[in-house]
Amino acid sequence: MTTLTLTDSKIATAKVDALVLASTAGEDGAVLSEGTELPKNALTHVNQNLSATGATGKADEVVKLAGVPGVSAALVVVVGTGKADAPVPDAAERYRRAAGAATRALAGKESALFALGGGAEQARAVAEGVLLGGYAFQTFLGEGKAASAKAPLATAQVQLKGRHKEDIAGQASTVAEAVRYARDLVNTPPNVLFPESFAESVSRRADGSKVTLEVWDADRLQQEGCGGILGVGQGSGRPPRLVTMTYKPRGAKAHLAFVGKGITFDSGGLCIKPGTGMVTMKCDMAGAAAVAASILALAELKVPVAVTGYLCLAENMTGDLAQRPGDIVTMRGGRTVEIINTDAEGRLVMADGIALASEQQPDAIVDIATLTGACIIALGNRTMGVMANDDELRERVTGAATVAGEAAWGMPLPEEIRGSMDSPVADLKHTGDRAGGMMVAAKFLEEFVGKDGSGQAIKWSHIDIAGPAFNEKGAWGYTPTGGTGSGVRALIELARSYA
Ligand code: BES
Ligand code: MN
Ligand code: ZN
Repeated sequence: MTTLTLTDSKIATAKVDALVLASTAGEDGAVLSEGTELPKNALTHVNQNLSATGATGKADEVVKLAGVPGVSAALVVVVGTGKADAPVPDAAERYRRAAGAATRALAGKESALFALGGGAEQARAVAEGVLLGGYAFQTFLGEGKAASAKAPLATAQVQLKGRHKEDIAGQASTVAEAVRYARDLVNTPPNVLFPESFAESVSRRADGSKVTLEVWDADRLQQEGCGGILGVGQGSGRPPRLVTMTYKPRGAKAHLAFVGKGITFDSGGLCIKPGTGMVTMKCDMAGAAAVAASILALAELKVPVAVTGYLCLAENMTGDLAQRPGDIVTMRGGRTVEIINTDAEGRLVMADGIALASEQQPDAIVDIATLTGACIIALGNRTMGVMANDDELRERVTGAATVAGEAAWGMPLPEEIRGSMDSPVADLKHTGDRAGGMMVAAKFLEEFVGKDGSGQAIKWSHIDIAGPAFNEKGAWGYTPTGGTGSGVRALIELARSYA
């Protein structure tokens, strides 16, 4: 990973390969950020170049200038941040994205200084953007291709004026490392990452941390009555797992439960997906990846909030024992579910996870899943859908995501949706109306949320990341093609909000 430090020294004379500056999209083109501390002749040179080349300052624009007078760095990079009032999740996110775009453009370089302006919060965002933009998944490249691939920027300095008590660089590194781990898990091909190897990866990673792990195999899942996970997993030669992660710091201010969908490959099962819809389905464990990565990061950050994570791991395949439409399975807690469409497998594994989480009576349960194509239809490829049985919690989750720079939008859970899941032969069926499919799936999950000591439903929120979890298009900002690490920063920020 790119090594990152903060610096308070003069940017004009810094001994780095590249100096990165920010521009804003103004009426008449790119405008260099106010307060860029360069000698006058350097500023004039940069400004003349921006206007001569027709730079616009829009997001993802990278202008490279060599030999700027009065600047020691051989290369000056001016990266666009878009319009000052652009509707991005929050103000710092413009700079997180710009830092990522610049870092991608600096692949192969040794060192760069990022002087994008702003205070501590912006520096933190820039640091994260650098570390996330410098991500490359090269594990499976053959020797020749690996040798010719450019290495990510090696070292980065982020300019921040004055002294700061918090370890901003350290915290940004921990958060970025978590997102990068989630991306690695998502990008790892499904012949390599399956329930057992997923559990092993998390277990290796938790070694020596303050997170303890318990792994249930198929036999144990049977004993524990987890019919949802077992039903989905029984069509695969690679049996399912449930991993419980526990982080319980002394003096914890609250107890949260995170539940993640971990379908290591979703073929659709017997209701098989068309090839075109299947090709990205290694990403169907992105929710579990976000849960695992965020909890490990929270422990490293010593956030004083207890978090229990449930990774619901299974492969949805078509083997001779595969679940059939018409099957009736008994879920954790005893409720029976009539199977309608085997491609709606996510809600089945998640229901067991949510039921298990409820047994611990946490203050809130937050589940995260690449649950529905309907989420993509409703909110597109970059925005997560947030639903809840409690308005305050939903606002809290969308708020935390926004602060973390992740686009999130609240969706309702109207009561009438439930009726479409009535079954004549079981307690309920697992699919209902096609209309509002994202909410239908959430409404099914809500059925498995338990009650607290006073008989009230435990506070629960559901995050659908079917859109943002996997980027099928080109890289943008700090987001690479492939796994994005969606949800990791939102979950970390959410837990922090309870500290
Ligand atoms: N894993 C998919 C949802 C998905 C689709 C995630 C595209 C990421 C990108 C999920 O298991 C699924 O197949 N859902 C079905 C549900 C339907 C059968 C009720 C869907 O959305 O079509
Ligand atoms: Mn599916
Ligand atoms: Zn799925």
